[in-house]
Amino acid sequence: MTSNDNNKIITNKFEVIKNMESFVADNIDKLLKPVNESWQPSDYLPDMNAENWREQINEFRQKAEALSDELLVVLIGDMITEEALPTYQTYLNRLEGLTDFTGVSNSPWARWSRGWTAEENRHGDLLNKYLFLTGRTDMHAVEITIQNLIKNGFNPQTENDPYLGFIFTSFQERATKISHTNVARLAIKAGDNNLQKICGLIAGDEARHEKAYRLFMQKIFEVDPVQAILAFAKMMKTKITMPSQLMTDGKSNNLFTNFSNVAQKIKVYTVKDYADIIANLVSGWNVENIIGLSDIAAKAQDYICNLSERYLKIANRLSFAGTTEKFSWLFNRKV
Ligand SMILES: [Fe+2]
Ligand SMILES: [Fe+2]
Repeated sequence: MTSNDNNKIITNKFEVIKNMESFVADNIDKLLKPVNESWQPSDYLPDMNAENWREQINEFRQKAEALSDELLVVLIGDMITEEALPTYQTYLNRLEGLTDFTGVSNSPWARWSRGWTAEENRHGDLLNKYLFLTGRTDMHAVEITIQNLIKNGFNPQTENDPYLGFIFTSFQERATKISHTNVARLAIKAGDNNLQKICGLIAGDEARHEKAYRLFMQKIFEVDPVQAILAFAKMMKTKITMPSQLMTDGKSNNLFTNFSNVAQKIKVYTVKDYADIIANLVSGWNVENIIGLSDIAAKAQDYICNLSERYLKIANRLSFAGTTEKFSWLFNRKV
């Protein structure tokens, strides 16, 4: 492909995104929740204005006592990921056609990205306050990690391409939904119904966001199937980078890997989940049944349709030797 061809593709993509504005405008009120109908973090935390606030906090902390260190590590990692939201809003704004040029733009895409960010902002907020109140974590170490992560940034390798961007966000929202749902399940198993509720609520938002990004991409598949399929294959070859990959606490050299290993070990987010998400997106966008493709696009289609199986094989081979690592988040305890 010449650079001229590539420029043409980028222009076409920009036009596709531009033409989707009325579609986004029609759907935005279904995909985002009105603020007055949204939950807020304080609704699910001890009421500091109540006369019995001390008892409320005590009860809150007691329930959190039964959480395992493993579950705490995963929850903290998830919280840190949510807290790096400035990076993700910057990311959306970089995608061609989505940019909010004034900061208060009335374009449907700009309204989407601000509304999405505003909803997401409650996630890190609630998890952070929950963890602070439990008194079970070294908040200073956790906060250092958040500051470092935002400072370090994150490169999902989607360039400024909105097609790659929507494939990435569709995948990522589903991944976070799975992760928060699994934490909720483990929380209730440990007897903490507060944390179960909290993670359940967040998972509900992620599910709605997943639906939105998938719908945007669905629309792209309808109007520009060849470029959509090529983008899907390209994104999968690049692999979905986790947004918190560059987290560091200034102590551990492998903090992200150590955190991911714990998540894999307690089955909050695993290679099998990765494989399942691919299969789910492939069937959701009906990739298998797209016809009339060019040779290159047909090859990409083939690659995508067989990919989940390949990851499943890796997942089945994976075993954990059970190494433990120190986490500053938990006062250097080995987890
Ligand atoms: Fe979130
Ligand atoms: Fe999300």
